[in-house]
Amino acid sequence: MKIISFINMKGGVAKTTLSLNIADCLCSRHEKNVLVIDVDPQFNATQCLMSGEQYVDHIENQRDTIINVFDRSLRPTVGIVNGPREAAPKNLEDIEPFEVKDNYDLLPGSLDLYRLEMAPGEGRENRLKRYLETVEGYYDFVIIDTPPTPSVWMTSALISSDYYVIPVKPDPISLTGIDLLYGIINEKKENFGLNIKCLGLVFTIVEENTIVYRKAKENLAGNKRWKNLVFNRYLPKRTEVARHQLNQQFILSSNDNGLKQNTVNITNEFLSRIKDDE
Ligand SMILES: Nc1ncnc2c1ncn2[C@@H]1O[C@H](COP(=O)(O)OP(=O)(O)O)[C@@H](O)[C@H]1O
Ligand SMILES: [Mg+2]
Repeated sequence: MKIISFINMKGGVAKTTLSLNIADCLCSRHEKNVLVIDVDPQFNATQCLMSGEQYVDHIENQRDTIINVFDRSLRPTVGIVNGPREAAPKNLEDIEPFEVKDNYDLLPGSLDLYRLEMAPGEGRENRLKRYLETVEGYYDFVIIDTPPTPSVWMTSALISSDYYVIPVKPDPISLTGIDLLYGIINEKKENFGLNIKCLGLVFTIVEENTIVYRKAKENLAGNKRWKNLVFNRYLPKRTEVARHQLNQQFILSSNDNGLKQNTVNITNEFLSRIKDDE
């Protein structure tokens, strides 16, 4: 089981889009069993994978979300027979993800992460790793979609992961952020003794044939740290991507063959980079 986080401290760089569509490609083109974890309090990944109705239904039926991983405190409940009492937190091995489709599961996100971030919680950053140990062997890939802000949620993703992928928009401002990100992750690696590696950097929302894109590529190709980390394939900018997202549709079901082929190729490269590292 390989665990990969999609990380960038900028929002709107297609972290969510890329992670969910690579996950889809792994499951529908490579017969892999995939779990997506949404640790972003804004839970966009969840909104892209569940309809509003499905989510409301999920919560009303007290099904599991990421909160069950992070909130280990006793919860006050009202029992019909015994009156008010405190319910123990759910065992990590009993947490059940939502089935998006065959071989594609989601541990849904929750706005409650905002509330929880303010509450004390000893060792909270290690809990995602412990949860993932309980599903070891069941999934081939775990894909973690992270928030753009440094937070305990981002740290927990880093602690849990074998690799991270940086989706980045090819413009000068976005590129200045990647060295900072690399530095912050290295600091966490030292502080927590982590083995996480950078799998690569994928250009996203790319406007092909523009000078900014060409310059961005040249810039990184001439950079010692990044030149071998840049994926050859990129995610092109298409309004189609945004249009279908909230209808729980993946790029592979769109009519744009170029867009589909790029997604397939990014996923192939993702797999071969992991294989090369083994
Ligand atoms: N290839 C693309 N072409 C056009 N728009 C895109 C593309 N990928 C993502 N978007 C749009 O850009 C916005 C940010 O994407 P998202 O995946 O939510 O980024 P992040 O998770 O980094 O904040 C969304 O509105 C999304 O629909
Ligand atoms: Mg996102």
